[in-house]
Formats: sequence, C-alpha cells, structure tokens
Amino acid sequence: MSSQTTFDIQAVRQQFPFLNGDSSVVYLDSAATTQKPQCVIDTISHYYGKQNANVHRGSHSLTAQATTQFEQARECVQRFINASSNKEVIWTRGATEAINLIAQTYARDTLQAGDEILVGEMEHHANIVPWQIVAQQTGAKVIKVPMTADCQWDMQAYQALLSEKTKIVAAAHMTNVTATRQPIEEIITHAHQAGAVAVIDGAQGIVHETVDVQSLDCDFYIFSGHKLYAPAGIGVLYGKEAILNLMPVWHGGGKMVEKVSFEHTSFSGLPGKFEAGTPNVAGALALATAIQWLQGFEKSELESHYKKLLDKLVDGLNHIEGIQIIGLQPDASVVSFTLNLEGEAIHHNDIATLLDQQGIAVRSGHHCAHPLMDALGINGTVRVSLGIYNNEQDIEAFLAALNKAIDLL
Ligand code: ALA
Repeated sequence: MSSQTTFDIQAVRQQFPFLNGDSSVVYLDSAATTQKPQCVIDTISHYYGKQNANVHRGSHSLTAQATTQFEQARECVQRFINASSNKEVIWTRGATEAINLIAQTYARDTLQAGDEILVGEMEHHANIVPWQIVAQQTGAKVIKVPMTADCQWDMQAYQALLSEKTKIVAAAHMTNVTATRQPIEEIITHAHQAGAVAVIDGAQGIVHETVDVQSLDCDFYIFSGHKLYAPAGIGVLYGKEAILNLMPVWHGGGKMVEKVSFEHTSFSGLPGKFEAGTPNVAGALALATAIQWLQGFEKSELESHYKKLLDKLVDGLNHIEGIQIIGLQPDASVVSFTLNLEGEAIHHNDIATLLDQQGIAVRSGHHCAHPLMDALGINGTVRVSLGIYNNEQDIEAFLAALNKAIDLL
C-alpha cells in the first residue's frame, strides 16, 4: 500500500495491473469508473481465496473474523467522512441505491400531497428519477432548480423557489458532466432555513475533496465505491443518526430484524435495519483498502497532479478550432466538449469511435443527464475524465488522436 509523500506518477502507474498488462488503451473515463490498484484487487482476492464467510451470522471463527473486518471497514468510512457514529454509515450497492433508499423510506414516509422536492437541473438521472417515483407515490412535486449557462446551481432561482412546501433539496457535490463544484454549503444552509433536508450526491465530489459531513451539516451524503478505486457494487449512504432512526425500513430479510413471528416482526437498530440480506463483504473491505490507499497521498500533490494535466488538456482543446468546452473552466478532473466543423455539429459518438479506434477510451453521450443537455440545447458531449494514474503522455496521445479524428471527419 502506498505511503509515499512525494507523488511519483510512475510508481502510481505501477500499482495498476490494467496499465501494465496487455492493454495499451489510454483510459480517460475515470468519472464513469476507475481502474483498480493492486491492493484493492488483493483485498478482494484474499477475501474470497482465504477467508470467505458470511457476516453477523453464526459463531465460527471465520465469520467472526469477517464480521470484525466488515465493521472495521464501516469505521474506516466513518472516519473518512467524519460521521459522528458508525451507525450513520449504511452499506448500499452504490450511490443510485442510496438515493432510492432515501426516497423510498424517508421521503415516502414524510411527504404529503403538494410538498416539494427541489432538484438541480444538472443532476444525474440517479438524483432525479427516484424523486419522481416517490413524488408519484405521494402526490409531492419535483421542482427543477435551474442551472446557469456555465452549469452552476442558480442560487437566486433556488432561493426564490424555497418555501414552506419545500421538504427535500437534492444536489450534486460535483456535476458528473463537467465536474463543476456546486455551492453545497449554501445549498444546505438555505434548505435548512426553509425547514427542508439536504441530500448531497457525492459520487463525483468525494473523489476530489475531503468530505466532513458534520461540518457540511448535510442530512444525507451518498457515494459509490467504484469511482474511488474500489469495486462496483459497494456504496455508502450517510445519514444523520436521528433521521435514520425515524426512517421506516426498506428491504426486508435477514439481519434487518430483531425478532420475526407471523404475528409481529420487530426490526434491528442502525445500521443493520437498512442492510437486509448478505452484504457485499469483499466490496466493503476493498472500499476500506481503497480509502486507506488514497489517504497515503498528499492531497495537495494530488491536486497539483490533476491541475497540471487539466491545464494541458484544456490548453490543447482550446487550440483546436470548433471545440467548445462545456461549463466553466473545468474543475477537478473532467472536461466535456462538443465539436463544430464548418458550421456542422459533429456527433459525439463519431468522435468517441474514432478515438476508440486509436486506443483512447472516453465517454460520449448524455452522461445520464438529459435535463442538463436540454438546458444547453445539445444532445451529448465527449467527456474526458482523469484518474490518479493518468500522465502527460495520455493527454498528448488524446490530443494527437483527436486531431487525427478531425482530419478524418
Ligand atoms: N455516473 C457515471 C458517469 O458519469 C457512470 O459516467
């Protein structure tokens, strides 16, 4: 596991089998999912190869060991986000499931007809559709908080929309299309002033920022493991303990109960009440490994690593005629763009296909953000997103391939 204090990109790349195997792909799609370092792969392989057992069930020593490690992983996440209790960390399959859990428990239980849920226009579908489903079930309304032309939460419009009808405000920490950092501190403060709870989708934001849920004072903060160098299928729902305690259960099954009879079933306390069935033990352990591995890097060094690459990328794109970068000067590690050649909009999939043929993996499309695309009047972008392992050669290879693609168009 890394404990380096000086960021050494070569040493980082060495830790990723994907970059050192047969694949010669330049991977620029880390906002969709990251490649995994060897230590994360080892954790999964060790668990299944040497210690596989269920958790919180039975009394043999393998299950006891797995249970201890599983709960240590929860404490690792608790420290990572500075939650005040390990009961506030609920394992889910990912960010999407975490938002659905909030919608189908907290929201479904508390919303009345006419109540309002304010949701940012630039949100990922995972932070829109679960609210639409619960609105249909309860008679509540989902209200769009418009975005500005540079993909930021429109604070003026937001404040005008807040009222005593507002019960939930849902916002991304960073927008997945552009990685624009949203003013979540003010969003949360204003939500609370209106008497609403604030749900923050941290799927992209937690990758780049230290998150302190107590100082943010958000009511819920959710994220996925797979964008944080951990495997897919594990995610986290953070909720304030007092709110989680009042929420009804969601999925029924083993572990989430105290006593079951045909006359009456009582439910277990936090966090188990939201964790029905056998959990993704290997995923939880691997997420803890990924977090500890990431914490081995100096935050400031990571920031300057990303900034250097992003500056090079933006500079290169700005020198190509017809490229339009979406949003503000990009934050973090993502650049989304469109291309116009001689007045004709070039389809994002055509660009991505021509890049793919040259061994460059980027994401193209609407990025699960139809309303954002509609607001911008486009049907998609090409999105380049960086991971900890990308280097300057990757950016050069991308820019060369893009220029070649444009020559072919
Ligand atoms: N939400 C992921 C993305 O933005 C999948 O690509």
